[in-house]
Amino acid sequence: MELKPRHLLGIEGLEAGEILHLLDRAAAFKAGHGHGSLRGLVVVNLFFEASTRTRVSFEIAARRLGADPVNWTAAGSSVSKGETLFDTVRNIDAMRPAAVVIRHAAAGAALAVSRRVRCSVVNAGDGAHEHPSQALLDAFTLRAALGSLERKVVAIVGDIAHSRVARSNAFCLGTLGATVRLCGPPSLLPPGLERLGPRVEVHPRLESALEGADAVMMLRIQLERQAGGHDPRLPSRREYARLYGLGPRAAATLKPAALVLHPGPINRGVELASAVADGPRSVILDQVENGVFVRMAILHELLHERRAEGAA
Ligand code: NCD
Repeated sequence: MELKPRHLLGIEGLEAGEILHLLDRAAAFKAGHGHGSLRGLVVVNLFFEASTRTRVSFEIAARRLGADPVNWTAAGSSVSKGETLFDTVRNIDAMRPAAVVIRHAAAGAALAVSRRVRCSVVNAGDGAHEHPSQALLDAFTLRAALGSLERKVVAIVGDIAHSRVARSNAFCLGTLGATVRLCGPPSLLPPGLERLGPRVEVHPRLESALEGADAVMMLRIQLERQAGGHDPRLPSRREYARLYGLGPRAAATLKPAALVLHPGPINRGVELASAVADGPRSVILDQVENGVFVRMAILHELLHERRAEGAA
């Protein structure tokens, strides 16, 4: 029998069928099927970077599957005593969890960890590289509202250069047949973005990115990923909000049925006005709700056969 992939490190390289399979599994979980399938397994959440939604969502997902989540955060750990990433994960792995869910500031951290452990590895965000569970929950939310994503147009606006959410979404939505418009200030639109997917377009102007779009995903400026702090080529917060923020006036140019998404955390009044974030187009809390079912699907896909092996 063909062995299933053991890790989810990114969306790049996944086929449409694999993505849709995960989304269908998430829909089944949302409909109330299949809870409790991972009873007896331990899932360690290993967060070297701050998180609210992703960490709690993976914890709830593990619990709903009957698994036991263990939460580790860098603060208060032996990282403060100088222990390295690889020593930390090797020690965690020696306690035989079924999976670690890892978030780290270095691009490629999840892949590097996956080569050093026996357990499954789920990437919960590695630097500016990928955030696969976020892209899957975004695709789930878009599909629930729009149906098939074939020929739909999704604008992603903000700090494209430093956003793992933008990268994973470009791969995911492009693979599912959507046109992805990446939009932001020119200094945050590095060359080569078109290579992120079959249908990626680059839009330096918000107006053209929003025109006719079925959905728009607003992103936070990732100040923590900019070397040396604030990038002097960036406009001021107020200037940014005027040129690239989605306020009521820009939102009024959207198609009547267009949706507004945001992965969180929102900087209200910068990339997104409160009136839009909390308005009728917003599906931001649907994204959060759906994230639990998508993460259940990810853990189930990676681990349920392992459980069967262990039981045999
Ligand atoms: C994002 C992240 O951490 O990549 N948040 C999330 O996981 N929902 C986006 C961000 O931090 O701006």
